[in-house]
Amino acid sequence: MTRVGVLDSSNLTGGQRLAVKYFTVALVLFGAQILFGLLAGLQYLKPDFLYGVLDFNVNRMVHINAMVVWMLYGFLGSVYWLMEDEAQHPVVGLKLGEIAFWVLTLAVTVVVLVYLFVQYGPGDIKTIWFINEGREYIEAPRWADIGIVVVVLVFYFNVLATFIKGRFTGIGGVIVLDLFALAGLYLAGMFFTPNISIDQYWWWWVIHLWVEATWEVLVGAIMAWGLMKTLGVSRRIVQTWLYIEVALMFGSGILGLGHHYFWIGTPDYWFEIGGFFSALEPIPLVAMVVHSLYDAGKHHMKSSNHPALAWLIAHAFGNFLGAGVWGFMHTLPQINLYTHGTQWTPSHGHLAFFGAYATINIAFFYLAAQQWRGNVYMGAGIAGAWRWKWALTLLSVGVLGMTMALLIAGYEQSFIERAINGSTWAGYFEAQNHPWFQQAMWWRQIFGWVTAAGYLLLVWDLLAIGAGETRTATRVGHESEEAEAGAEAAPATA
Ligand code: HEM
Ligand code: HEM
Ligand SMILES: [Fe+2]
Repeated sequence: MTRVGVLDSSNLTGGQRLAVKYFTVALVLFGAQILFGLLAGLQYLKPDFLYGVLDFNVNRMVHINAMVVWMLYGFLGSVYWLMEDEAQHPVVGLKLGEIAFWVLTLAVTVVVLVYLFVQYGPGDIKTIWFINEGREYIEAPRWADIGIVVVVLVFYFNVLATFIKGRFTGIGGVIVLDLFALAGLYLAGMFFTPNISIDQYWWWWVIHLWVEATWEVLVGAIMAWGLMKTLGVSRRIVQTWLYIEVALMFGSGILGLGHHYFWIGTPDYWFEIGGFFSALEPIPLVAMVVHSLYDAGKHHMKSSNHPALAWLIAHAFGNFLGAGVWGFMHTLPQINLYTHGTQWTPSHGHLAFFGAYATINIAFFYLAAQQWRGNVYMGAGIAGAWRWKWALTLLSVGVLGMTMALLIAGYEQSFIERAINGSTWAGYFEAQNHPWFQQAMWWRQIFGWVTAAGYLLLVWDLLAIGAGETRTATRVGHESEEAEAGAEAAPATA
């Protein structure tokens, strides 16, 4: 029996229940990311703060690793969430999936505790195995790396088997192929080479080919499903767009990898290859914005889940701005010569990761919250709607504010340190001591607090939204045409 408005796991299918577990850990780690970001930011302003206890490098490591891990949890959750509906078949190997979830979560907990309490070890192979591997963003020690691979294999088996036993849709096919590439690339970050250029060469295969190729394709597929569900867009339309986006994304993103090979000791031809292909990378992102706005417009923004749709739209714009525009700004080698290693990079990193990946995960948290309360009504005029609107506003304004502050600092560094002082040591310090740089670091912190406030409101809202609501979700698009008369449809929303 569905109980509308009540948080009850009997409202969920097996796959959805597992997805909710992933989403819960994702949300907790998102909180950790913000907490450690605030600590690292504070250390820019007060270098003595927690010095010797929790140094900047540790806070920074926890900050960005928590980010990567929470987003992966979000993706795993989202795929489990949509898989049964898409394949029209219950998750194959659900029990195995449950075990994998607990193993992964235990491993993540141990890794974070080691990061916080052991922090670092001597530069030898034991440290790589047990403390951290020293590769930015994917610093997990080797034992955890291997554990992650096993867990991902289980997940991959579940996805593949479910689609094979059920039906293979276009979205399902893209997900299956993409996850194969995504998991395979992780292997490139798992071996050690003493030559730092070679090490970086492979490390970028994970970092760049994840965020600018395989993750983008995955969110493309997730987005396609999300648009069908929240707006009722027809499958034919979303899948056609999806294929175009995937082709463009791989066409530009794979060789776009070259924009990380400008200054690490790789051959000169990477200037041309990296500059050319990465400059094309914004094109698929434009296609994604056009796609989502076209769908939303065609359905008059009539959606079954207002907060989820709002976050999906935020994703389309955030991806375009953070990755496309902010990425393009410094991707040509002639410009990157001046911006590389300045705050320009974190400016882009913050907006891109938030805009492209935090947003779409949050959209799925809302889809889960809706179903968990018995497919409750989440259209116009719900009680406490101010909460989700303000959470969206504060998070977006907070991240945009940080982005702008860092961009100003980056401009100042490129100008004073690089252009005027020719990358000298003295130029570095002149740039660091310039008021524009120092004030920007304060503004980053202030907007960081705004972001944190948005996060707290988001958590509150996810726990509270739909409580006590008795209407069920609005039926949308072609689904509503299929709905039989007499179904409990809530009033249409505009
Ligand atoms: C959602 C997609 C993207 C994400 C999450 C992302 C994130 C990041 C992050 C975190 C870095 C810093 C890496 C480091 O630690 O050194 C970075 C570097 C960079 N990104 Fe992106 N990025 C995305 C898409 C793009 C696109 C589409 C472009 C180009 C059009 C681009 C251009 C660059 C460049 C040129 C750098 C190197 C900056 C430097 O080291 O000088 N990015 N990106
Ligand atoms: C809540 C407030 C936040 C604060 C105060 C903050 C602060 C910081 C600081 C101080 C760093 C280190 C920068 C450096 O090495 O110079 C950093 C790095 C980073 N943060 Fe945040 N952060 C916050 C939220 C976020 C969010 C929400 C995201 C994305 C969803 C994010 C993504 C990143 C990334 C990708 C990097 C690495 C950038 C690079 O190396 O270029 N942060 N952050
Ligand atoms: Fe890249």
